[in-house]
Amino acid sequence: MAVQRTFSIIKPDATKRNLTGAINAKFEAAGLRIVAQKRIHLTKAQAGVFYAVHAERPFYDELCEFMASEPIVVQVLEGEDAIAKNREVMGATNPAEADEGTIRKEFALSIGENSVHGSDAPETAAEEIAYFFSGLELVG
Ligand code: CMP
Repeated sequence: MAVQRTFSIIKPDATKRNLTGAINAKFEAAGLRIVAQKRIHLTKAQAGVFYAVHAERPFYDELCEFMASEPIVVQVLEGEDAIAKNREVMGATNPAEADEGTIRKEFALSIGENSVHGSDAPETAAEEIAYFFSGLELVG
C-alpha cells in the first residue's frame, strides 16, 4: 500500500474536554504523521457545507449545530494506507460498537458526539483536505 493522506477532525466534544493531545497520541502511535493541523471555530453554515452529503438525514441539523458549538481541530494525517489506518484507530461511528483501544471506544460520548471524523475514501479525503487547507499548509 502506498503512502496516503487523509483528513481528520477532532470534534467539539473532544476539544471541550481537552483531549486533543490524547487523540493525537493515538494517531502517532499508529504510525500516522500529522502533516497539517489547525484549531478553528466553524459557523453552522460552514459545517453544513462540509456535511452536505448528509443534508437529507434526520440528524443533519443537530450535527451542524454540534460541529459549530465549540472549536474543532482539523488535520491532515499521512502514512501507509492512512485512510483505512485512521478509520481503524477511530473505531466504529457508534462508540457502543467500537473496538477496545479505539478513540471512539475510549473518548466518544454518543453516535453524534463521537470525538473524531475521518475521510472514508481517497476522493473524499482530497475534497475534505481542500476545503480546509491550502497546499502551502501541508508540511510532510
Ligand atoms: P462522521 O464520521 O463525522 O460523519 C457523519 C456524522 O454524523 C457521524 O460522524 C456522526 O457523528 C453523525 N451521526 C451519524 N449518525 C447519527 C445519528 N443517528 N445521530 C446523530 N449523529 C449521527
